[in-house]
Amino acid sequence: MSKSIAGFSKLSKSKKIDWIVDTYFLNAENAQKIIKQYWNTNEKLQQLHDEFIENTITNYYLPLGVAPNFLINNKLYTIPMAIEESSVVAAASKAAKFWMDRGGFKTQVISTTKIGQVHFMYHGNVESLKAYFNHVKPKLIEDAQPITKNMEKRGGGILNIELRDKTSEIPGYFQLHASFETLDAMGANFINSCLEQFAKTFKSEALNFDAFTTEEKMIQVTMSILSNYVPECLVRAEVSCKVEDLSDSDAIDPEEFAEKFVQAVKIAEVEPYRAVTHNKGIMNGIDAVVLATGNDFRAIEACAHAYASRNGSYGSLSHAKIENGQFTFWIEMPLALGTVGGLTGLHPLVKLSLELLHHPSAKELMEIVAVAGLAQNFAALRSLTTTGIQQGHMKMHLMNILNQFEATLEEKEVLVKHFANHTISHSAVVKAIENLRQ
Ligand code: MEV
Repeated sequence: MSKSIAGFSKLSKSKKIDWIVDTYFLNAENAQKIIKQYWNTNEKLQQLHDEFIENTITNYYLPLGVAPNFLINNKLYTIPMAIEESSVVAAASKAAKFWMDRGGFKTQVISTTKIGQVHFMYHGNVESLKAYFNHVKPKLIEDAQPITKNMEKRGGGILNIELRDKTSEIPGYFQLHASFETLDAMGANFINSCLEQFAKTFKSEALNFDAFTTEEKMIQVTMSILSNYVPECLVRAEVSCKVEDLSDSDAIDPEEFAEKFVQAVKIAEVEPYRAVTHNKGIMNGIDAVVLATGNDFRAIEACAHAYASRNGSYGSLSHAKIENGQFTFWIEMPLALGTVGGLTGLHPLVKLSLELLHHPSAKELMEIVAVAGLAQNFAALRSLTTTGIQQGHMKMHLMNILNQFEATLEEKEVLVKHFANHTISHSAVVKAIENLRQ
């Protein structure tokens, strides 16, 4: 039976663990052992991780893999990927190599604007509010100066603040809709600090605005928060080659492949059931690099899917065409990323990943991440429209099944050899293990 606890966060780490294992586990000793098995022996490093969040009990490992041979705008990259799904890094590496031999990926950052909003309620005369906004706007920017001055020195800062009337959706609902340039920072703290200052100034100055009635002076701020929807923080990545160059084996007819590939993308453009899986495949690549570089994958995910529905129905983030014998495949999507601040200067593996990527600017990281998404999507569609996905997937999954059955190194060697030319399925692997062990 579960029970509640008061003051849990104030307990020491070992007391927290004692309470958890005693409350929830039949074999408390074994649970203790598993939790502690993942502690780092380097106490300083462990403390760093403990302090990332509250109530840390242990570390949750994900593999950090690398996909080499990514030629992006004529520069070679090895891309770090933190992900648990067995086939993702292999697929990225395969796509990278394929396109390296065909001119590589071309990318372009289209825009870098971030958004934040102060949501507020006002039930008075709209013209008076507009007049007040025009009057107070310079003061909003001026009062945020202590927050913005460093960012401005580097060429960023507040781009604009607009008053938006949302009363047709909710009576009395207005916004200060602000746009920002945050350079190499993802900018969440910067934007939220600016917004909270805007809200403070906006409320207090209203009290002195003579054209307001007493009631109108009482502006009610509901909340001030950045938006993770950044349709104007856009990047494009593209690959292109002659259709006849698309084949790398005799088994694939390049024209048939190109046509099936474009069909597959068109299906994902119009069919939400397929589009979600198609985009999930893209996010396999994107999230893995976003995570390895210490960025917020939940923000990236939320934004990507909102963007995929921007026309009123959910569709593919990537597109493809054949024109005059030329195959072109591209992705255009919003990616709000940072290469300074947050985890980027703290987590040793994030620092390592950024160094591996030649210390990219936020714009370069947007390009690299978009490429990882496009490559992943290419690999998935290539399998789906030719051999099917299971062949590659199951090959990678074989090791997971063998580990589930605690296969020894010798057993693994025999079985990997066996399945090099036998169809892999869960039951076939289980049977092969049983046979071997008899
Ligand atoms: C699996 O993680 C991702 C795929 O399903 C993506 C796709 O279907 O395009 C293979």
